Amino acid sequence: QQQERQYVIGFSQCLDNDEWRRTMIREMERELSFHPNVSMITKSAGGNSTIQIAQIQELMDQKVDLLIVSPLEAQPPTPIIEKALDQGFPIVVVDRRTASQKYTAFVGAENLLVGQNAGIYANVLLNGQGTILEVGEGADTSPSLDRHRGFVEVLQKYPGLVLEESLIRDWTPQEYEEEIRNYLSQHRDIDLVFAQNDRMALQVFEICEELGLEKSIEIIGVDGLYGENEGLDLVDKGVLAATVLYPTGGEEAIEVAMDILNNRPYQKENLLFTTIVNGDNVRILKQQASKLIDQQANINRQSARLADLNETYSLQKNALYVTILL
Ligand code: FRU
Repeated sequence: QQQERQYVIGFSQCLDNDEWRRTMIREMERELSFHPNVSMITKSAGGNSTIQIAQIQELMDQKVDLLIVSPLEAQPPTPIIEKALDQGFPIVVVDRRTASQKYTAFVGAENLLVGQNAGIYANVLLNGQGTILEVGEGADTSPSLDRHRGFVEVLQKYPGLVLEESLIRDWTPQEYEEEIRNYLSQHRDIDLVFAQNDRMALQVFEICEELGLEKSIEIIGVDGLYGENEGLDLVDKGVLAATVLYPTGGEEAIEVAMDILNNRPYQKENLLFTTIVNGDNVRILKQQASKLIDQQANINRQSARLADLNETYSLQKNALYVTILL
């Protein structure tokens, strides 16, 4: 029987300290568990573009068969990604974009749509009239730029909606809390906050509670993860009026990587589904997510059993061999 070819994927992850990134890794590992001939080296840059560039170079030096990159910022890693492509490394860019189209494939949801969805739903919630604060992170990250652009584009269609302020920067948690608290205590008339992810949305809610504003301010987040105090749960509990689903693309990134490695046809742009999650559809999405997690637990159990069986089989085979030799 012919041995399957072994592959090594190098994954450059920009951050790893939040649940969204952990979910992305879990999805990748789940998909990789179907490909025992593929291993993955993951390097996380801890939110620093210089480190991320150095790590991409390290993965190239290790001569991985394919690179998956989730770039922290758009500009800084663009040259090294272009260089890697020129040197023949297939590159799958996931979630955030670089500043160029030079990559083998992209996997992720369209952040322009995420922002547009948030804008459309803000109009529904406010009935065409009200003041808005937007908060986001990472001024040079493509999701932040695109979510903002999509949001503003839609708001322009509704003259009664006024975006009072966009606070988009690289926050430390301390600064974030102080600045948002200051802003909201001085602008108690804000009707809605669009927070560019659910972590920030939850913090905004806690600040609103402190200021006694939780009843008068609607909050829209982004991500819609499953789990306690994650987006779906927060919408279900009524903490957030809505969130915009933003899938991590972990599973799809591995699928596309496998197509590329096996010389199968693949698409360059793999755009993932995004939608508004509100009280009407949150239950069904929660059920689906929980089913998927059960199925994964089953797959894990079965692959552990398979590994056990393989082990027993090879022990027996060796024992048989020894017996024959004797
Ligand atoms: C996680 C995260 C998500 C967000 C995504 C955008 O690190 O901030 O909350 O949707 O990255 O790249």
